[in-house]
Amino acid sequence: MLHSCICLGFALMFILSSWIWMPVLVLSSPIMAMMFFLLCLWLKVIGRWGRLMRLLYEIYEWIMFRSDKPRKYFWQKYYNFISWGYPYEEWKTMNLGFACDNDNVYIPPQLDSEFQYEKFSYQLYHYLIFGFAKIENLKDKHILDIGSGRGGGLRYLAKNFKPLSAVGVDYSAQCVNFSKKYLMEESVNFYWGDAERLPLKNESADLIICVDSSHCFGNLKTYLTEVKRVLKPGGDFIICDFIVTLDKDEYEENFSNFLKMKNSKDLTENALLALKMDSKRKIELVEKKVTYMFKRLMKRFAVIEGSVLFNQLEAGDTLHLAYHFTKPE
Ligand SMILES: C[S@@+](CC[C@H](N)C(=O)[O-])C[C@H]1O[C@@H](n2cnc3c(N)ncnc32)[C@H](O)[C@@H]1O
Repeated sequence: MLHSCICLGFALMFILSSWIWMPVLVLSSPIMAMMFFLLCLWLKVIGRWGRLMRLLYEIYEWIMFRSDKPRKYFWQKYYNFISWGYPYEEWKTMNLGFACDNDNVYIPPQLDSEFQYEKFSYQLYHYLIFGFAKIENLKDKHILDIGSGRGGGLRYLAKNFKPLSAVGVDYSAQCVNFSKKYLMEESVNFYWGDAERLPLKNESADLIICVDSSHCFGNLKTYLTEVKRVLKPGGDFIICDFIVTLDKDEYEENFSNFLKMKNSKDLTENALLALKMDSKRKIELVEKKVTYMFKRLMKRFAVIEGSVLFNQLEAGDTLHLAYHFTKPE
């Protein structure tokens, strides 16, 4: 009986870990790699190449956007790689950005030149707090940014609006190292941590913000339970992310039995406008700094005009949505 259980355990581990060892096996064996190459060539010759690419893309989509544990694992590796490979001080944000007809409404007029460079990303942070959630000021607040990335958004808030304290939590150690190296301010702290197990005390934050990060988290319900734990009664929670239109109901289902929703808004048009206006700057940066091999990947990551996510937003297949919640007193 014991032996059967052990064998079953091993078999289960073998199957469950196949997504790790299979690619390693394929890529590490020259013979397998050669066979894979020949298979690709043959598919191209017989005209099935497109079908293979679509299949691979579907697998990629499933791993990065629909699975639980694999997506959390791969996004962490992905952001680690990007922050390690491209440690440029001028690049401090990683969100879709926000623009509107009167562009200067959502940014203080006396803005430091430091914040002009990635102005649309800061505008998103600014708009979410002051425009969308209509929070008047941050002076009496302890704020928390979950998935703070390279730290720029939180630094923007801390420098310009002087909250009591500002904490950024990110699952990518490289992102946290970058933020600590370049973006520390007196009242700002960056910690390595998982959104699903926040390294913070109960009821310690007045305002929690999460910008374009939740699509990386493993389990949204576990994450929201953590938000509820850390938020003070009377506190605000703002979450914004891009969501596949067909998954919107499923995504919003996570908010049932959560906090009280005060507002929600579709920011897709504003994101598209920002992305269009910012494409030239991003392309120049990629052309200047990124090695040939990764140029395409980085342009896609930067969501320049014509990239996959840009096209999905433009076609209405993906939406950029924002939600504001409060915790009852
Ligand atoms: C698209 S970036 C957004 C960064 C930042 N909010 C901004 O607007 O510039 C998403 C960030 O979420 C972080 N992240 C992914 N999974 C996470 C998790 N489980 N817990 C905390 N952060 C996570 C990534 O490392 C990445 O830095």
